[in-house]
Amino acid sequence: MQSSKKEKWGSLIGVVLAVMGSAIGLGNFIRFPGLAAKYEGGTFMIPYFFALIFLGIPIAWLEWTIGRYGGQKGFHSTPGIFRILWNNRISPYLGFLGLLVPVGIFMYYILIEAWCLYYAYLYLIGTFPLFQGGNAYIEFFTNFTGMKQDGIVFDSNHTPILFFILLCYLLNMWIIYRGLVKGIEMISKIGIPLLFLIALIILGRVLTLGTPDLNYPERNLLNGLGFMWNPATSEKSFIESLMNADMWLAAAGQIFFSLSVGFGVIITYASYLKKNDDVILSASTSAAGNTFAEVALGGLITIPAAFVFLGKEGISDSVFQLGFITLPHVFEKMPIGQLFGFLWFLLLFIAAITSSISMLQPAIAFFEEGLKTNRRTSISLLSFITLIGSLFVIYFSKDLVALDNMDFWIGTFGIYVLATIQIIIGAWIFGVDKVYEEAHKGSLIKIPKIFKFVIKYVSPSYLLIVFISWLYQKLPSYIQTLQTNTTARFTFFFVVLLSIFFILLIVQANRNWKKENKGV
Ligand code: ALA
Repeated sequence: MQSSKKEKWGSLIGVVLAVMGSAIGLGNFIRFPGLAAKYEGGTFMIPYFFALIFLGIPIAWLEWTIGRYGGQKGFHSTPGIFRILWNNRISPYLGFLGLLVPVGIFMYYILIEAWCLYYAYLYLIGTFPLFQGGNAYIEFFTNFTGMKQDGIVFDSNHTPILFFILLCYLLNMWIIYRGLVKGIEMISKIGIPLLFLIALIILGRVLTLGTPDLNYPERNLLNGLGFMWNPATSEKSFIESLMNADMWLAAAGQIFFSLSVGFGVIITYASYLKKNDDVILSASTSAAGNTFAEVALGGLITIPAAFVFLGKEGISDSVFQLGFITLPHVFEKMPIGQLFGFLWFLLLFIAAITSSISMLQPAIAFFEEGLKTNRRTSISLLSFITLIGSLFVIYFSKDLVALDNMDFWIGTFGIYVLATIQIIIGAWIFGVDKVYEEAHKGSLIKIPKIFKFVIKYVSPSYLLIVFISWLYQKLPSYIQTLQTNTTARFTFFFVVLLSIFFILLIVQANRNWKKENKGV
């Protein structure tokens, strides 16, 4: 275990796998298929690739570049890195989002991770309940997640799920405690190949399903793939389906969430690179790996499998419904479904844990470099903060309102704002020419010069249009929920308090940095 100041990745492939680990998560295997099915797959891929090319990849390049630059100046957290990119009093404070976003997302992401591990365990030991029907699965899910009543997860019937949450917690903290190379890099080097292997096995099974129930000849694999990927439905023309603003917003949101861009994570990961470690090819490789996992694996498994067993009617586009209700129903019908159920939820768990650990490192780096705490104290402090947040989400479990509101304010709103600030500070203030030059130090490939124009003008305009339309569409209903729902209000206050807390810590860190004359 080292202090993060001196830490460096063991190898370039290690950091690429770590970033891929952060990117490939529940977003790839359940969020993406749900969205693609909702927006008629083939059509959805158009805004999806637009967002990937004009937002995801340029911002990823930017994050990798400013992250490595910050690391060379001795900073590994967004507040510190913003401070050297822009010598201004407010710059480190703008970096609070680079702490709030990953830590806040971790608080609820860990619960879903634990649900996956719980399901994997139940399949492994063969006690996953068989209900022969979708409604009973809903019942099972709403019961163990406590969706019926606040506070219910703390009663004795819920000991198993609490145990799995605690286990996931300890695992995450232990991995982070072991440090970059022995913790994050090691887990990613094992986890990512294993994840691809399991996904390919499951994909092989799904692609050989044929027509499992001859009473329903239309429920066959080809129709399942068609349901997922065919661009136009009979009612709407292709152009009509493409003119759906909601879909463009969903695609941009998916790109951010899935690539872990605008998360504050890549900046921190890239800050541990060596001076001349390539950033362009590494960023592109991890983005490509994530897209492959999402489109070719996630996109071919989840929906086609559900379609051949349950038909069109059985498929829901709600993320949790698809992952935790529809798929168990599918495994019940599938030959040797218990094994595939186990493999599937193990896959989700691996995808989730390699993502959740990445959400912890930015705050650890900040505590160590800003507050001068050692690894043990940093982990204790972060465990304490995240535990409060997770207990909050666990307690306010009714209809998952706390989880949904955290995801709205931090996991969507926060990401958009952080991505915008990064572009302003990186491409406008620090300067797009400097970013371009910096990106090419030690790089194995070149970025076309047009990138400068894209990151300076196209990405921010695209981002602002998406962000403003999204606010226009979603904000009123969330504001209304704030007025009518106490849990939503509590969650909002909690997010505000957490933000203030991080800002106060940055005040202290900034004082320390000034004393040391660091970075200016
Ligand atoms: N990028 C991670 C995911 O897709 C958070 O789940």
